[in-house]
Amino acid sequence: MTKRSETEAWPLVFFTPRTQSLPATVPFVGPEALERRLGRPFRARLGANESVFGPSPRVLEAMAEAAHGSWAYGDPEQHALREAIAAKLGLTAAHVTVGEGIDGLFGLLAQLTLDPGDAVVTSLGAYPTFNYHVSGHGGCLDFVPYRDDREDLDALAERARTLRPKLVYLANPDNPTGSWHTADEIRAFAQGVPPETLVVLDEAYSDLAPAEALPPNDWLSPNVLRFRTFSKAHGMAGVRVAYVFGEPETVRQFDKVRNHFGVSRMAQAGALAAMADEGYLAEVVSRIVRARGILGDIARGAGLEPLPSATNFVAIDCGRDGDFARRVLEGVLAEGVFIRMPGVAPLDRLIRVTVGRDDELEMFAQALGRSLEAARS
Ligand SMILES: Cc1ncc(COP(=O)(O)O)c(C=O)c1O
Repeated sequence: MTKRSETEAWPLVFFTPRTQSLPATVPFVGPEALERRLGRPFRARLGANESVFGPSPRVLEAMAEAAHGSWAYGDPEQHALREAIAAKLGLTAAHVTVGEGIDGLFGLLAQLTLDPGDAVVTSLGAYPTFNYHVSGHGGCLDFVPYRDDREDLDALAERARTLRPKLVYLANPDNPTGSWHTADEIRAFAQGVPPETLVVLDEAYSDLAPAEALPPNDWLSPNVLRFRTFSKAHGMAGVRVAYVFGEPETVRQFDKVRNHFGVSRMAQAGALAAMADEGYLAEVVSRIVRARGILGDIARGAGLEPLPSATNFVAIDCGRDGDFARRVLEGVLAEGVFIRMPGVAPLDRLIRVTVGRDDELEMFAQALGRSLEAARS
């Protein structure tokens, strides 16, 4: 074997030119990294759209039980979980694939669909992890602006008809704005997209969406995939489990590349228990709706405008430009309250605050008041 000194650069030619051209980055800087930078833990964690209300006690029990069996791989076909999801959807297990969060499924989708240079259409400022995976597989992102702080379905479909991209992305309800479209609008949008374009319908917040926002589960088309997660209302973001459903032949493609043991025994058992505990889900949803109302009041009380939300967060319009909103955000962070904001104009007028418990919302209110005063002066 050739010996090299440690200081001599290795020609890392085994990485593809695409890999070498990519920045080593994460789509979101995690709150843990921010805490390390700040040198202290946050007092309230209201920035990652997790559920502070946590998983159902039954989920915790099921996962603790499954932990004993963790010496064994999980079922690579996730049979019981897929059956349970399918039963809830009124579909069959062949319509469903389970993965390590929607984020993990997006990575697989990019791998399955994109050759370098392939076009992908999304909205400017929409969910960045999708973009991250597209770029990682050499896709070329094309951005359509939001209109009135909502994804512009007509413009997205129009762009898809012009570019004929491999994928067009749409989150309903949307992150970072919290807005939503009706099921009829979503269906009209999908019908307006060319058949060679796959509609990536991200329904991460479906449990929090009004019923009229969700097309019926049996609305299926070979070029539509719908992604849902246990990370939000089910309070299991750290477990990493989500699913995608659609026409069996489209869904089956995931079996060609997925990480078969990627969803652990504990994750499968936890998600199964979560599906069975509808009472807990309903209780959490009502707590989120209540906390959303409080966040709206906090924003209005501070002279800011909360955007309507069908999610577990509220986007608050700071009323000026991105620099002003960033100053407000920095001030809130410095007070030990973790929140986030979109990175691009015009959405960067907004700060995005995930719902929390009453005491955490109060901490945010106090921090926001002080931060606004400083930012305005
Ligand atoms: C729109 C959207 N999609 C996907 C995700 C990630 O979901 P998961 O935790 O299942 O990867 C999020 C999380 O914030 C999100 O807001």
